[in-house]
Amino acid sequence: MVCSGVAQASTLLGFVLRARGLRTVGVEDPGSPEHGRLFASTGMETVWLPLDGEGLRPEPLAASGVRAVVVTPSHQFPSGIGWSAGRRAALLDWARAVDGYVLEDDYDGDFRYDRAPVGALQGLDPERVVYAGSVSKSLAPGLRLGWTLVPEELLGEVVERKRTMDLGNPVLDQAVLAEFVTRGGYDRQLRRCQRAYRERRDALLAALAEHLPGTGVSGIAAGLHVIARIPARFGPPERFLERAAGAGVALRSLEEYGTARPADGDVRLVIGYAHLAPSAITEDRAGGGGGGGRGGVIRSRGARTGPVG
Ligand SMILES: Cc1ncc(COP(=O)(O)O)c(C=O)c1O
Repeated sequence: MVCSGVAQASTLLGFVLRARGLRTVGVEDPGSPEHGRLFASTGMETVWLPLDGEGLRPEPLAASGVRAVVVTPSHQFPSGIGWSAGRRAALLDWARAVDGYVLEDDYDGDFRYDRAPVGALQGLDPERVVYAGSVSKSLAPGLRLGWTLVPEELLGEVVERKRTMDLGNPVLDQAVLAEFVTRGGYDRQLRRCQRAYRERRDALLAALAEHLPGTGVSGIAAGLHVIARIPARFGPPERFLERAAGAGVALRSLEEYGTARPADGDVRLVIGYAHLAPSAITEDRAGGGGGGGRGGVIRSRGARTGPVG
């Protein structure tokens, strides 16, 4: 079903599950704050579910009592890990065992750099997985155009919710996108974004290595953001973030995305790079490039992303 992005797919599903009597939904910890907010607007409470390096940990999931979860298995947001095959299978086993549902948020599934694309979870169990994607990362978030694949059992209820919410997306937008896809323009745009985003990522990694040596970077093989772990000697974290803000560089700490509060003094950042040309990423304000320049060494507005201009 065509809808206005992953955001609307989430609220549609939330309303349907709430009407079926579910009161809670599990979200990844760390995860996208957007997931909790969207489901909360449908009357569902969110339960944090801890991750490790492979995906959701099975025991806390089983103990949580939830029957619905929202996940980002292809490129976990924000940690950047790809879920292991074992954890993907375990999640589907869990969903079948509790008669539950999985919302697969494939928010940046089109962007893979150093690794092969991973198949969607939805293909492994179309009756348990609701898939959602959009053109937000490939064209522009403001287009508000996306899609959701819904299990047969929920489809009628989801379609009815969509009908009462807005009677469907504007047909003109859909017709333009269909034409763009048919003529091969969308594929070209994806390839162009893929190249541009890879270049931007590489500029960011080089800037971090040059200006903040010793920084560990993860989640770089896919997507539009990285996790940077900046050594404590550049900290403490609050001071580091203050200094960055003072230099016009807005950054978000990983702690804003979950419940973990590591005590090692390292600064963990979620840095989105898709909206910045390489020259804006490498511009060195502190080194005298300044005077009205709009960039910074690693200028970023968190993980906000935008189209390739
Ligand atoms: C992880 C994640 N998923 C989904 C969305 C929303 O996507 P869409 O623009 O397709 O509604 C966002 C945007 O804030 C996001 O960060």
